[in-house]
Amino acid sequence: PGADLAAYFAEIIAADQKIEPRDWMPERYRRTLIRQIAQHAHSEIIGMQPEGNWISRAPSLKRKAILLAKVQDEAGHGLYLYAAAETLGVSRDELVELLLDGRQKYSSIFNYPTLTWADVGAIGWLVDGAAIVNQVPLCRCSYGPYARAMIRVCKEESFHQRQGYELLHTLAHGTPAQKAMAQDAVDRWWYPSLAMFGPPDSDSTHSAQSMAWKIKRFSNDELRQRFVDMCVGQAEVLGLTIPDPDLRWNDERGAYDFTQPDYDELMRVISGDGPCNRQRMAHRRRAHTEGAWVREAAAAYAAKQRSREKV
Ligand code: ACO
Repeated sequence: PGADLAAYFAEIIAADQKIEPRDWMPERYRRTLIRQIAQHAHSEIIGMQPEGNWISRAPSLKRKAILLAKVQDEAGHGLYLYAAAETLGVSRDELVELLLDGRQKYSSIFNYPTLTWADVGAIGWLVDGAAIVNQVPLCRCSYGPYARAMIRVCKEESFHQRQGYELLHTLAHGTPAQKAMAQDAVDRWWYPSLAMFGPPDSDSTHSAQSMAWKIKRFSNDELRQRFVDMCVGQAEVLGLTIPDPDLRWNDERGAYDFTQPDYDELMRVISGDGPCNRQRMAHRRRAHTEGAWVREAAAAYAAKQRSREKV
């Protein structure tokens, strides 16, 4: 029966169908998905911090309402993704513990500071733009619950990207000081955004296997290239400059040549030594401790409801 199950799994993958929670799956497939989905969920939750930093200082009520909604969406994405990970037999509590102990990762990008209001725009345009390029193919990932979660997440990410783009467009067409602030934000966020796609394919530990399992549909470098190609025209419309003097169209490749991000810096940030790693984790640990009473109250309420149902 073991061989039959493995053959059935291979057939489903080959036929581009979905693996569902109750289907047999190789242990390594399950572990890879838990790692990636949990890391993705943690990124959404930690990702609330850099922008949350600007909610109380948004320049108008309208901008504040938009930013509040966006940060709330990120919390929702995190919970959605934890729920998808739970279908693989781990609990959200365990995953949160793994994050807080530093045994699971979150995206490198959220370890950079948001120094000005324009950073909210640059995050929307570049960081959420990169997230969409990475996540749209995940809607076709072989694991059903992750693929389905991604559909809604991508729709909301598109709104996030547009709000950032519109914000930057407004600044870029404002006073010279506003335009300079927008350009400075793009200068600081460009390379960290390119690094979000992960190490180059030659150094990517998981890509080959994840692509064979159709968890990943494109490699890190393929998606990075797609992102650069998408941004060039958008930067022109914004009237802002991508901070790469070597960015130019390559007719032969049918794509832009560009300068790679600093991958040593990416590795330092991933290993905990980025500009804001300590601050982000300290903040998350504090919020978790201070939120203990909410979890206890919710658990007590659920227990009470259950005991009432029995009567
Ligand atoms: N930040 C932190 N860690 C990273 C990053 C990054 N930008 N890129 C790669 N890594 C880690 C990988 O997790 C892996 O470490 P591990 O083995 O300890 O888990 C290691 O670097 C080697 O990388 P890869 O072998 O290329 O890893 P993988 O195949 O998982 O590809 C990728 C990385 C592209 C990020 C993939 O996991 C993915 O697509 N994840 C889903 C999307 C996601 O998590 N987005 C979060 C940010 S977007 C947002 O929330 C707005």
